Amino acid sequence: MNGGVSNSKLPLLLKPFLLSFFLSLSILILFLAASRSLSPTPIPSLATSAAAAAAGGGGLRIRKGLHSYDAYIQLQLNKTLNPKLRKLWKTRDWDRKVRVFAAFFRALTRRGLLSNSSRALSIGARVGQEVEALRRVGVSDSIGMDLVPSPPLVVRGDFHAQPFPNASFDFEFSNVFDHALYPEKFVGEIERTLRPGGVCVLHVSISKRADKYSANDLYSVAPLVALFRESEVVGVRRVDGFGLDTEVVFRKKMIRKNKKKINPKGTD
Ligand SMILES: *[C@@H]1O[C@H](CO)[C@@H](O)[C@H](O)[C@H]1NC(C)=O
Ligand SMILES: *[C@@H]1O[C@H](CO)[C@@H](O)[C@H](O)[C@H]1NC(C)=O
Ligand SMILES: *[C@@H]1O[C@H](CO)[C@@H](O)[C@H](O)[C@H]1NC(C)=O
Repeated sequence: MNGGVSNSKLPLLLKPFLLSFFLSLSILILFLAASRSLSPTPIPSLATSAAAAAAGGGGLRIRKGLHSYDAYIQLQLNKTLNPKLRKLWKTRDWDRKVRVFAAFFRALTRRGLLSNSSRALSIGARVGQEVEALRRVGVSDSIGMDLVPSPPLVVRGDFHAQPFPNASFDFEFSNVFDHALYPEKFVGEIERTLRPGGVCVLHVSISKRADKYSANDLYSVAPLVALFRESEVVGVRRVDGFGLDTEVVFRKKMIRKNKKKINPKGTD
């Protein structure tokens, strides 16, 4: 290009420059590598988020005293099977709750998150007030699930292992996240049975502790969001939902995340 004019002089000037350049570059690389290894950014996996959840590190704490899954189920059944409560749920509570749930579902319909043609599931639906509300607003293909069935609206099922095939639903609702002994399974099963692009709406309590039947306590939305590995948050808003104060809406992603980062043990 600009010929051999400075060919003999250039190396003299360039050598010390290049030397110091590469020296500072390698120091920079060494520095970056060192600071990386000093403060590694952990890649969250189902296992670590569950461990963090169990340890209360992420603002989600599993309650102590539930020594086995059987003890947990027994405790849940004690409330769900209580004949006095079941009667109240089906009589005095029924209309009031159906109306409030219907208002929530109508609001979701207006936001385009639910439609009359959605296949909808309510998780932990007890006697089925949410299902009645879904049907009342026009979502006719809706069903509830609980440990104790309540025909015809609610079928038997444990949310830690839903009795439905993959990608069964367009929409899933639940206000019993606090009852999950294994929150990562609760969420994993929702993501499994939701179709890609499907919507999950959870009502949770952030500001106050739920009842003695709760299996976990949630102190912020963040640990819940971390559990939804295949979904993104559509919105978080305050609600007044029978003691639950926060509505979190997720949408399952259309394209699955990099499977390498997902701990396969987390799914069962
Ligand atoms: C459930 O209720 C039964 C009978 O009322 C009682 O004996 C049992 O201890 C209760 N179980 C739990 C886990 O609370
Ligand atoms: C959905 O169903 C309800 C109840 O049947 C009806 O009033 C409403 O018009 C329907 N909405 C649409 C968009 O079709
Ligand atoms: C269902 O989904 C789970 C987890 O998302 C996956 O591991 C499993 O292979 C799927 N089953 C079928 C039959 O596609």
